[in-house]
Amino acid sequence: MFQVSREFAPPFSLISPYFTAGSLFYMVAMLILPMFGADSAMYDISLVAWVHLFLLGFVMMIIFGAMAQLVPVVLEVGHFSVDFYYLIWPLLAAGTVLMALGFAAFPTLLPYGGIMVLVSMLIFLADTILTLRKVEHVSLTVKTIGVTNAFLLLGILVGFAMALTIGAGVGIDIQRWLGAHIVLVLGGFVTLTIVGMSMVLLPMFGLSHGFDETPVKRAFKLMSIGVGTYFVGALFDSESIRFLSLLAIFGGVGLYLWQIALIYKTRARKESDIWFKSMMVGYGALAFALLLAPIALIGRLESVALAAAWFLVMGFFTFLINGHLFKIIPFLVWFERYSPLVGKQKVPMLADMVPKKPGEFQFWFTAVGMAAGGLGLLFGSDELFKGGAAFMAAGSVFMFYSVKWMMNFGKNIEQEKQ
Ligand code: HEM
Repeated sequence: MFQVSREFAPPFSLISPYFTAGSLFYMVAMLILPMFGADSAMYDISLVAWVHLFLLGFVMMIIFGAMAQLVPVVLEVGHFSVDFYYLIWPLLAAGTVLMALGFAAFPTLLPYGGIMVLVSMLIFLADTILTLRKVEHVSLTVKTIGVTNAFLLLGILVGFAMALTIGAGVGIDIQRWLGAHIVLVLGGFVTLTIVGMSMVLLPMFGLSHGFDETPVKRAFKLMSIGVGTYFVGALFDSESIRFLSLLAIFGGVGLYLWQIALIYKTRARKESDIWFKSMMVGYGALAFALLLAPIALIGRLESVALAAAWFLVMGFFTFLINGHLFKIIPFLVWFERYSPLVGKQKVPMLADMVPKKPGEFQFWFTAVGMAAGGLGLLFGSDELFKGGAAFMAAGSVFMFYSVKWMMNFGKNIEQEKQ
């Protein structure tokens, strides 16, 4: 699906704040998580605060950093303006903190946080769209990025309209638009972006090739149609359109999992490192979420819906992102600090640039915690949920430590050069 070249890649100093800030937000969100219980209602406003702290501060932050790196690499054109990326992360970080505080305790802060997040995302979208316009051949990749960005734009506009309703008292019917907001940003942007990026990253890190790509192409179409029609369902307030749209999205996720199985079968690298184990847990969690979601939808079971959302977000998103950081950061650091030294002195291997023990600890604490927390939600057990959350909190400290460790690897070499 994609070609990879590093000619247009932006400097590491531009990307690294995204990974540092993202893993810091991740740790803070995880340390707060044990304060919630298995009985926390989906519409509890402190849960909404936490959800945005986690999704904007961690998930979106890291995706933006990774896109800054990957978009020019796969499209083989430079960013329209790479300097935009110096603005995006501070605006996103500050806006996320204000939004979380706004939801949790000070509603008047909400529109201010909302506007900062909105502006940071509009800058991201502007750069991406203007970069896409430089591409001469409109490939499937270009279309994919165009579609996901359109969903993000719609999703955050709906979010902002809801934030105005809460913070300033004017706006839209939240009950009607909340679902569209969630489906657009989580399904239309985060999941579809992960689908697209994984088609570059999984074959690259697992050394797979020669597999059929039909399932992912169909998955992409089905999921995009599902997300688009869900928005139409919200527009006309139609329960049946929303129901059918969700079924289309579930079908798309099923096809994507099939694609992953094809990539897995053709992989040449058999080693079971942290990245590989994280992928197994992440895709396992996605498959489990896909099993639970139709049951929740048809049976209208809130605890099952909450558990499905947990396995999607805390299992699939978290493990895909954190697992890839153990590959991407060493690669970027190596390229920045060691590639000029090749042939002149001994340079480390990528595998030497990963902290083995802390990496393993973060993996096991997070995996056990994620499974226990999800089962706690499913069976309504507060003890299991809180125990799982505490394990995830411990895992997040090891994760943050590992990210800093990988970022600092060989820093003394850089200082010697100056
Ligand atoms: C400008 C950016 C955004 C604004 C202003 C915003 C605002 C909001 C508002 C007002 C709600 C409804 C709260 C309620 O139920 O009363 C909400 C819910 C939600 N938003 Fe956002 N949002 C934004 C971006 C995002 C993004 C990028 C994501 C995901 C990546 C996201 C995920 C969610 C989720 C999952 C919920 C449901 C939370 C729950 O019911 O517990 N939002 N958002």
